[in-house]
Amino acid sequence: MNPLRILLLCHSFNSLSQRLFAELRAHGHTLSVELDIADSVTEEAVALFRPDLVLAPFLKRRIPPTVWQRVTCLVVHPGPPGDQGPSALDWAVWRGEPHWGVTVLQANGDFDAGPVWAHASFDMRPATKGSLYRREVTQAAWRATLAAVQRFAGGERSAPALPDDAPLVRWQPLLRQSERAIHWATESTTSVLAKLRSGDGQPGVLDTLWGQACYLGDAHPASAAAMAEFSDAEPGAMLAVREGALLRCTVDGGVWIGQARRADPPDTHPTQRSFKQVAAELFATEAAGLPQRPVPLQRSPDEWGELRYTEHGPEGARVGCLGFDFYNGAMSTARCERLRAALLQVRERPTKVLLLLGGEGFFSNGIDLNSIEAAAHRPGDSAADASWRNIQAMNDVALAVLQTTDRLTVSVLRGNAGAGGAFLALAADQVWAHGSVVLNPHYKNMGNLYGSEYWTYLLPRRLGDAGAKALMTQRLPLLAAEALKIGLLDHNDEGSRQGFEERSLERALALASSYNQSGELAAKQARREQDEAHRPLALYREQELARMHRNFYGFDPSYHVARHHFVHKQPHAWTPRHLAVHRP
Ligand code: COA
Repeated sequence: MNPLRILLLCHSFNSLSQRLFAELRAHGHTLSVELDIADSVTEEAVALFRPDLVLAPFLKRRIPPTVWQRVTCLVVHPGPPGDQGPSALDWAVWRGEPHWGVTVLQANGDFDAGPVWAHASFDMRPATKGSLYRREVTQAAWRATLAAVQRFAGGERSAPALPDDAPLVRWQPLLRQSERAIHWATESTTSVLAKLRSGDGQPGVLDTLWGQACYLGDAHPASAAAMAEFSDAEPGAMLAVREGALLRCTVDGGVWIGQARRADPPDTHPTQRSFKQVAAELFATEAAGLPQRPVPLQRSPDEWGELRYTEHGPEGARVGCLGFDFYNGAMSTARCERLRAALLQVRERPTKVLLLLGGEGFFSNGIDLNSIEAAAHRPGDSAADASWRNIQAMNDVALAVLQTTDRLTVSVLRGNAGAGGAFLALAADQVWAHGSVVLNPHYKNMGNLYGSEYWTYLLPRRLGDAGAKALMTQRLPLLAAEALKIGLLDHNDEGSRQGFEERSLERALALASSYNQSGELAAKQARREQDEAHRPLALYREQELARMHRNFYGFDPSYHVARHHFVHKQPHAWTPRHLAVHRP
């Protein structure tokens, strides 16, 4: 394939854009990125970079004719051929479509209606829109993009002719809140879940909690066992709290609602808009009146909770699996504390190997920027104090992993990991990832944050000093395959995403029963002791935190500004220079 100059034009450099960026680069193409800020800026980017092809993986506006008339522009649409409109995936989840697709089409004057260059389909999964987007859509988008780019690189300049059985065009309008609205008095759990999942991550479903208008998300079905004590409850009633989620009654069961965002008055300034928070924290006073219903780590699969532990294999070669499925991979102080307590608890179990499974969608994205932002609005608290508490709690989790020296620990990346979440993974002895995972093992994109989580110990021990420095300064997303090549990972699973958990467990069971396990363990303990004698972990922590203290409390407000923009989803005013390589 001829290498191409490809300009990625996107609303934000989101997970899909990152995956395509990294994959295309790995295929030898020269990439640059321009965020979609204004038509004139896009025109300028095209003039400066002179791309062979513009690729738009995630856009909220049309590409200007001055651009698509000059250079071939391919748009990634999260719907099958013929599907058009701004809420493609929302409708698919809302309707419970069994299969869905992604289309790569050429931009022209009509929205989503240009000639189709390639498409790919996938089976839907009972999951949120965001989860499907980050997994199935991204995977299909890469397949279709690769096919389209290969055609273009091979010299084709127009889309293949339409097949005779081309699907009918179907314009689907914006999915409005009136259609998303939940009628608690009449709707089943299945219907409530479909609506909530169709709006998750954005925009959520407009509803009311304790009479206050808010958007809901992060919904999970309640088990029959959890609902047993509430058999007399009215549909819509608020029943209990678990790990910050609220249990709400439906006509035939209940749902746990993990996240809520207050509805803003119409004239709210964009910088003051509300943002998602843990539901029981947003409604702390009201939720305090509800009973707490915590669950044990080991429990039936249908009993929802963020933390879960399972054990497998024969006596003497047992494997423990600890999952921590935190919404958006955001690890607030409370979540870190619960995770650390869980780690200490499962360390009491006679296992040879402990798998840290993170979440299904994200392994971890580090400290919880939303809960930190919320602290800025709480009397007697501040974002700086909340950041400080959160990074200490994150470090305590990393330390608990590092100090688990009596068995092998493995981080299993089922989804992406970013910033502190990527370094948390490195605290384990081994790191395995699925091939679709994108890592962002750097902190600087969040207002030049220095970072902690013992990264100054963990990264150089894998990459050396020069490698660690290069990774931290380049600030680019990394594919699992690339991470394996440089030594950041120990294993990259290129099989299908479905079945990755089972394959990881098989691998761990083999490890647990391998004859040289005790030798490896002794070597690990000796290495840790040597490292500790050379430079204690406490010193790494102290020096990292001294820099973080400056980020949180110092004169330079960059971190606070960046976090505020991130949490409030402020549109970008310019493209960071490490992405827009066409700009001097
Ligand atoms: N705290 C709170 N929310 C977070 C988060 C964090 N650390 N990291 C991601 N999220 C949220 C996003 O706001 C977004 O919310 P939404 O559901 O309202 O859309 C959701 O998770 C998905 O994130 P998104 O940025 O769309 O995912 P992505 O896969 O495209 O990008 C990252 C992944 C890691 C590059 C990006 O999310 C990021 O930069 N996160 C911040 C990491 C960080 O700086 N952590 C703090 C320092 S340790």
